[in-house]
Amino acid sequence: SRTYFSGIQPTGVPHLGNYLGALRNWVKLQREAAPHDTLYFSIVGWHALTLPQDRKVLLGAQTDMMALLLAIGLDPKRSIIFHQSQNPNHLELAWYLNCITPVGKLRRMTTWKGRLADSRNANDESEVDDSLLNTGLFTYPVLQAADILLYKATHVPVGEDQQQHIELCRDLAEIFNRQLEADNKTFRATFPLPAPVYTPSKRILSLRDPTSKMSKSSPIEQSRILLTDSPEEIKAKIRRAVTDSVQGITYDPVNRPGTSNLLTILAACENTEPEQVADLYSGKDHGHLKSDVIDAVVEMLRRPREEYERLIQARTYLTEVAQDGLWKAKLQSEQVMRTVRERLGMLATP
Ligand code: TYM
Repeated sequence: SRTYFSGIQPTGVPHLGNYLGALRNWVKLQREAAPHDTLYFSIVGWHALTLPQDRKVLLGAQTDMMALLLAIGLDPKRSIIFHQSQNPNHLELAWYLNCITPVGKLRRMTTWKGRLADSRNANDESEVDDSLLNTGLFTYPVLQAADILLYKATHVPVGEDQQQHIELCRDLAEIFNRQLEADNKTFRATFPLPAPVYTPSKRILSLRDPTSKMSKSSPIEQSRILLTDSPEEIKAKIRRAVTDSVQGITYDPVNRPGTSNLLTILAACENTEPEQVADLYSGKDHGHLKSDVIDAVVEMLRRPREEYERLIQARTYLTEVAQDGLWKAKLQSEQVMRTVRERLGMLATP
């Protein structure tokens, strides 16, 4: 049987990239999973703290995210949906993993390298200044590995931008297993090596700068479509999406990133490939393409948005779902932690 685990940061309403790159796939897996498979979906509040957050906003965002996960079709009767920050076992395992993680591996993480690049000394490009970056950002992937291993997950549905993090998680599981087996022949591997499950659709790019991915952290709101955007907002954002002045429509991600991004979005909405969609638009222009992208996105997000508006009023229900999920997550993770503590020579918790 399989155990699926995935997480999302409660840093604002998810955007179209999150939805097409991950969330929609979670719902699909939930639908297709075998009866004895287990699915965990976590709202990862501790990861969000690696960047500055307003406490009130963050508190609200966690509940909003719960409403949103239910709105897109995750079913608490089938999946274990919970807030990471309510289960301290994540932090405990993260610490144990930190103690076997080579610093060099974390330095190679592209997310970390991106942060470093952003903080480069403005006067001297060669001087990298990490004094303003916090350690949480650096060990972020270790906490992510702990999330996954804590439930002995075998499959991790994510977007392709998470590839390096999943590889690190596999490495850490291997190091952990190997060290303990070497120490004591009676111990068998503790952790399965989790496999990434990538979403078939390509990564979704920013509508304003199609050389970077659509992201929650961009200051430009026009760059992303939120799952709660009204049809008017969706329309305005797509109408103003950056494309190019080349005649006609072709799928050419390198030379025509903006146009190709619209084709990617349309293909994802229609469950086909961007190349195929491009063929249908060979004689048409950007105006046609944008109109059709608008219709497809508005239609796809209509139900989730309505559900979200309804659920966000049902506070008690959201708390109940979170408590139920937490209870199940704790029960499972406590079992794993008992073995881990024993194997590491830690005292059992009373
Ligand atoms: P997060 O919150 O940034 O994103 C959640 C999911 O959305 C996917 N995604 C995208 N896919 C396609 N195009 C985009 N522009 C795009 N932006 C985001 C991400 O791949 C991700 O699957 N580190 C994780 C959260 C996490 C996690 C975990 C995931 C914490 N612990 C354990 C899996 C397992 C993150 O920052 O996701």
